[in-house]
Amino acid sequence: MEIRTARDEDWSQIYPFYARTVDEGRTYTLPEGLGMEEARPLWMEGPPWRTVVAVDGDRVVGTAKMGPSLPGRGAGIAGASFMVDPTHRGSGVGRALGEHVIEWCREAGFRGIRFNAVVEANEAAVRLWKSLGFEVIGTVPEAFDHVDLGPVGLHVMYRRL
Ligand SMILES: CC(C)(COP(=O)(O)OP(=O)(O)OC[C@H]1O[C@@H](n2cnc3c(N)ncnc32)[C@H](O)[C@@H]1OP(=O)(O)O)[C@@H](O)C(=O)NCCC(=O)NCCS
Repeated sequence: MEIRTARDEDWSQIYPFYARTVDEGRTYTLPEGLGMEEARPLWMEGPPWRTVVAVDGDRVVGTAKMGPSLPGRGAGIAGASFMVDPTHRGSGVGRALGEHVIEWCREAGFRGIRFNAVVEANEAAVRLWKSLGFEVIGTVPEAFDHVDLGPVGLHVMYRRL
């Protein structure tokens, strides 16, 4: 598996699992039900953000995006988002993307990485981020309307670089 900067043409492979992940209603606050062209700018952002793909041969199996979490004087802390194709989860793609993002953000000079909205019931993500050195620095109660559980908390998670 290789992780490289995303190209425009990768979106046709990302979009199906992006849409499936968002529409599942368990992990993201992104708007549901968007078509391929409507959703594209929400994930394939331009500079200063960067989108990458994890590829197995020609197949895109996961993706991440990273960049300044806030503009102006808040730009010293990075933010990032991750998605792995459901048919490839549990085989190390998410961990490899997480490690890649940490290294890229360190080399780009960010002082830390903040995840603004990690669903507290998202056990896979919370365990993965903790194992990569992130800690929960607060939880906004009942901030995410989970499709199965109803309102659950959103963690703010942080890792110093
Ligand atoms: C969260 C996500 C990115 C993890 O990617 P992944 O490729 O499945 O994860 P990996 O196989 O690299 O597993 C890494 C760790 O995650 C945790 N994990 C993965 N799947 C898990 C599961 N089903 N239950 C509990 N923990 C799990 C484990 O701690 C695992 O550690 P290990 O490497 O010691 O086994 C992926 O599940 C995903 O895309 N989920 C939907 C979108 C999402 O939640 N994005 C993150 C929002 S903050």
